[in-house]
Amino acid sequence: VNHLLGIKYLNKQDIQLIFETADHFKEVINRPIKKVPSLRDITIANLFFENSTRTKLSFELAEKRLSADVINFSASQSSVKKGETLIDTVNNILSMKVDMVVMRHPNPGAGVFLSKHVNASIINAGDGAHEHPTQALLDSYSIRERLGYVKGKKVVIVGDILHSRVALSNIFALQLQGAEVMVCGPKTLIPKYIDKLGVKVEYNLLNALNWCDVANMLRVQNERMEISYFPSTREYTQQYGINKKLLDSLDKEITIMHPGPINRGVEITSDVADSKQAIILNQVQNGVAIRMAVIYLLASKIKQ
Ligand code: CP
Repeated sequence: VNHLLGIKYLNKQDIQLIFETADHFKEVINRPIKKVPSLRDITIANLFFENSTRTKLSFELAEKRLSADVINFSASQSSVKKGETLIDTVNNILSMKVDMVVMRHPNPGAGVFLSKHVNASIINAGDGAHEHPTQALLDSYSIRERLGYVKGKKVVIVGDILHSRVALSNIFALQLQGAEVMVCGPKTLIPKYIDKLGVKVEYNLLNALNWCDVANMLRVQNERMEISYFPSTREYTQQYGINKKLLDSLDKEITIMHPGPINRGVEITSDVADSKQAIILNQVQNGVAIRMAVIYLLASKIKQ
């Protein structure tokens, strides 16, 4: 059985194939009839143990555009609340002839764990602070779309790196494609293992912005913090928030990304988030084509 559990299990050729397949599906979803019949014989369960807007809706739309049958499961409204385990939950769903599971879960490694205990193809839609592979794929795809290619580009990921699955998956994906990666944020929000990942570390936002071609702004994930890692939101914004004045002070125009959800006025001001420099909604739009590509490629292995 094949899975997408993390970018760390992919190689450069895998990413290339996903992008080429996504190019085709992007063309499909711009047609008046946005569907293809490719997966009429596949049933997919979307299991969300954590809140989501973009990822959940984008997977569901991708599945429907491929003509798959889709069931949606939200842990908060399920028998998980009565004490049912993850494996029991998934095996019960699979017994209804489900072929593929898309899962978001708060625990790092939940997807890997599930893949070892159930007989289905698993796609990781975000596991705690570990990986969010389809987000990193759509991020790189969006850089490729805006700047022509990813190789050689300088990308800084700004903010709460410590609690971010988007950061880790982006670091792996960007490095595989030959981009230079920097992380920038307060010392308390940069993980100690960062030295092992071969990325640059910068604590000053202006220096980071002067270096980069692309800045990917992250949200501070207060929900994953048991203690406060920064004195106050106001101080965070003063030191690590991006605004129009700061961007205008640079001698080049950089591309601004954000995985969402945005905390407007904290890590990014509205005049930047809604500007032509930002590709935030392009990222969301590309998420559907990327997820169609990932599902299609995995399903073609199930059918073999
Ligand atoms: N980017 C992202 O994963 O957003 P959601 O949490 O809304 O899915």
